[in-house]
Amino acid sequence: MMRGKRIWAAGMIFCMLVLLSACGSKGTVAGSKVYVGVTYYDQSDTYMNQLIDCFRNEMDGLGESGLDITVTVRGAGGSQITQDDQVKEMIGAGCNILCVNLVDRTDPSEIIELARQNNIPIIFFNREPVAEDMHRWDRLYYVGADAEQSGVMQGELAVEAIRDNPQTDRNRDGRIQYVVLEGEPGHQDAIIRTESAVNTLKKKGIELEKLSYGIANWNRAQAQNRMMQMISQHQNRIELVLANNDDMALGAMDAYQKLNYTESALPLFFGIDGTDVGIKAVKEGKLAGTVYNDKEGQASAMAKLVKAMAAGEGMEDIRFTNDKYIYLPYSKVKQ
Ligand code: BGC
Repeated sequence: MMRGKRIWAAGMIFCMLVLLSACGSKGTVAGSKVYVGVTYYDQSDTYMNQLIDCFRNEMDGLGESGLDITVTVRGAGGSQITQDDQVKEMIGAGCNILCVNLVDRTDPSEIIELARQNNIPIIFFNREPVAEDMHRWDRLYYVGADAEQSGVMQGELAVEAIRDNPQTDRNRDGRIQYVVLEGEPGHQDAIIRTESAVNTLKKKGIELEKLSYGIANWNRAQAQNRMMQMISQHQNRIELVLANNDDMALGAMDAYQKLNYTESALPLFFGIDGTDVGIKAVKEGKLAGTVYNDKEGQASAMAKLVKAMAAGEGMEDIRFTNDKYIYLPYSKVKQ
């Protein structure tokens, strides 16, 4: 009788240990099938679409290497409420790893809560949640790039181009009259890129005069509109356009093209991202330079995390900054 009880108790303890390790372990996803649910802020964003393509390729690679993996990608159309619902749906459908490019980087509470209740790790990417939110749970990660570095590089490219082309200062007043096209207010890449690009130019001894700025939310058509307004205000005075991304630099160029400006009356344009259209414009000599936002590297870092989460091992081989952040370096692209 006593012996039977002992076997029963040992059996119970064993089951509890198995259950605990399945639900509570930090590194693994529940079940053997990996279901990755991806949601990104807006499916009309050029850079994000290219980054998502790279990520899909990475996931195909994991599938080919034998991992039983399903990937669902959703665009949130710029609505945080839609994105929260998408996360709920994907969790309901059995997703066990989430990749989230937040619509509102200051509002991840609902998503984090849902993930935590279901013990599903989240890889945030490109739109960085604030540190306080990132510390709410130990299964939250971030993959992106250092905004300041991209601004500094854009500033350095502009310094070189201005020095190499003294005719940039068309009115020969010893100063460069410039305008800025900014991404979404509140996005870590907008304010920081602008500040660090302008500071770099100043530090390197370029005298600047800011004529104006326009917020164009990363978008080419909006940038064209803002630029048309700035041209009508300042006519030929604009000598330099610093845009927080390539699409907005291209939008600024569209505005000049629409107004039939001749090449010699054009300012220098700089972007950031190195999207396909951006690189093409650099090669054609239309964009003076851009800064490569390493989408392949970011997608590959996300894939490494997915793989380690799925296998329940290998996290220790990943090089994190402050335990949960991975930042890929930018690089300069010039004519
Ligand atoms: C990119 C932009 C993109 C934005 C989306 C930035 O890092 O440079 O092109 O629109 O991310 O969050």
